[in-house]
Amino acid sequence: MVDQLETGTLTEEQLLQILHVLLVGGYETTANMIALGTIVLLQYPDQLAQLKADPSLWPNAVEELLRYLSVAHQATYRLAMTGVELPSARLSPGEAIIAPVMAANRDPEVFDDPDVLDVHRDARAHMAFGFGVHQCLGQALARVELHIVFQRMFERFPDLRLASDPADVPYKNSMVYGADAVLVTW
Ligand code: HEM
Repeated sequence: MVDQLETGTLTEEQLLQILHVLLVGGYETTANMIALGTIVLLQYPDQLAQLKADPSLWPNAVEELLRYLSVAHQATYRLAMTGVELPSARLSPGEAIIAPVMAANRDPEVFDDPDVLDVHRDARAHMAFGFGVHQCLGQALARVELHIVFQRMFERFPDLRLASDPADVPYKNSMVYGADAVLVTW
């Protein structure tokens, strides 16, 4: 990428923007999915026991965790290029819309009992990676990372448990929803 700066293909501002997206998008999201996913899975011991007994359930569980946690909770913004009819409004060209990912992921018309984690549900219609042409470029990597981390972590530490009350976890609400630290023991 530095080559592209030297040749003028990218400006310094564009390069910094790309690095910012990669750092926040590529690290913060996955790291906080692991932190929050660990808390949630430990709060659903029956489902965690099923995952430990049958690791083929992990890919589906990862989709459900992505839906349930929606860590990239900042609204996605879209600009209408042409007139768009929505159920409750009409957008004119040039008008912007804010589409909160987490509201879509907890939509009761799409997901039964959306506030409950169910690792057996078909959650693939979730919007945790956004939607459309700007849908997350790193989603395949993120899915593999989450699958490997959760499966291997609970295999390596089968007695893993939280060392503090989930209510006392220092949650953070920045560009990505997450936690500064999750204390565990085994
Ligand atoms: C659990 C992990 C992740 C979540 C929840 C997530 C979520 C998102 C969301 C919601 C968007 C915006 C999509 C939209 O506007 O429609 C996005 C974009 C993006 N993500 Fe991720 N992401 C994750 C992991 C990653 C990883 C691992 C990488 C790269 C290594 C990555 C790179 C990107 C990039 C480059 C974009 C911008 C795509 C564009 O604007 O065309 N993400 N991500």
